[in-house]
This record gives sequence, structure tokens and C-alpha cells, in this order.
Amino acid sequence: MNIREATMDDMIPMQNCNLHNLPENYQMKYYFYHALTWPQLSYVAEDEKGRIIGYVLAKLEDDPSVEPHGHITSLSVMRTYRRLGVAEKLMTQSQNAMRDVFGCKYVSLHVRKSNRAALQLYRDTLNFTVQDIEKKYYADGEDAYACRKIL
Ligand code: ACO
Repeated sequence: MNIREATMDDMIPMQNCNLHNLPENYQMKYYFYHALTWPQLSYVAEDEKGRIIGYVLAKLEDDPSVEPHGHITSLSVMRTYRRLGVAEKLMTQSQNAMRDVFGCKYVSLHVRKSNRAALQLYRDTLNFTVQDIEKKYYADGEDAYACRKIL
């Protein structure tokens, strides 16, 4: 298993992985937007045959009303490759690039209130803190925890 920066060729397999693992899906142009604008921030995990088994899709939040910071758009790992430390490694790579390449002071993300696995990863393993609850953040009406980590 290998972790490396994502390239344009990875965007379709990343979207495929996302479709398998999460209800939040994105058009291909949104993947390309990430890869073209912040190519340093998104990473993939591949198996020994080069198949994508996990990804982190990340960006800079450059809304002028807030301090520029990193943002995790989406993270997922295929079911048979879970609990092997893949997500932790993907997140660490992206966070390091946010800090080292773009000078980000912090990284943010949203996670469903019901997503215990991801919340444990973010809060307990990666030391994110819950900043806020965003009511009905998701399309199906579920609330999100807005999380943040100082880099
Ligand atoms: N239950 C409890 N704790 C968990 C779980 C779980 N199912 N999965 C991970 N953790 C915690 C544990 O503390 C774990 O350490 P340990 O295995 O030593 O106990 C630690 O996180 C590190 O886990 P990893 O092995 O790095 O995580 P993994 O590669 O399995 O991926 C992920 C975790 C991404 C949440 C995976 O379960 C997944 O793809 N889920 C579906 C998609 C998803 O929910 N993505 C996140 C949505 S939020 C967003 O995208 C911003």
C-alpha cells in the first residue's frame, strides 16, 4: 500500500471511491477544481496493483471573510482497507502540505453527528476539536459538527 499526491488521472477513481463510501458526492468538475488549484493538498492510497483504495480531497478556504485555512472536502477509505491507519496517514500528509506549502494556521472540516468512526478519527486520533454544530448542514437534514485543528 502506497500513499502519494493525487494527480489528474486519479480523479475518476477518487470519485468512484467516494460514491462507494459516502452520500456526499460531487461532480467531476469539482474534483478537477481541487486538483488544478491546490495539487499539493489531495492524496490517494493505492494497493499493490495501483488501485485507489482511499483518498483525501482537500482545498484552501479562501473566502475573504475568514482567515485563509485548509479545508478537508472529503475523506474515505474502501471498506476492506479500514482500521489500517490509511485515513490517518492521508490526513497527516494533507495537513502537513497545508502548513508547509500554504502557511495555513488551521484546518477545518464537517462531519455528520452520527458518523462515530470519523468523529473518533478526527477528535481522538488527529486532535481536532468540535467548534460548532451546524444545524441541518447536510441535504437530508442531519446536523454537522464543524471541527478544527491548529496546525
Ligand atoms: N470506529 C471507531 N474508531 C474508528 C473507526 C471506527 N469504525 N475507524 C477509525 N477509527 C479511529 C480509531 O481511533 C483508529 O485508530 P485504531 O484503529 O488504532 O483504533 C483511528 O481512527 C485511525 O483509523 P484509520 O485506520 O486511519 O481510519 P480508516 O483508514 O479506517 O478510515 C474513515 C476512517 C475514513 C472514517 C473510514 O471509516 C471511512 O471511509 N468511512 C466512510 C466514509 C466517511 O465517513 N468519511 C469521513 C466523512 S467526513 C469528511 O469527509 C470531511
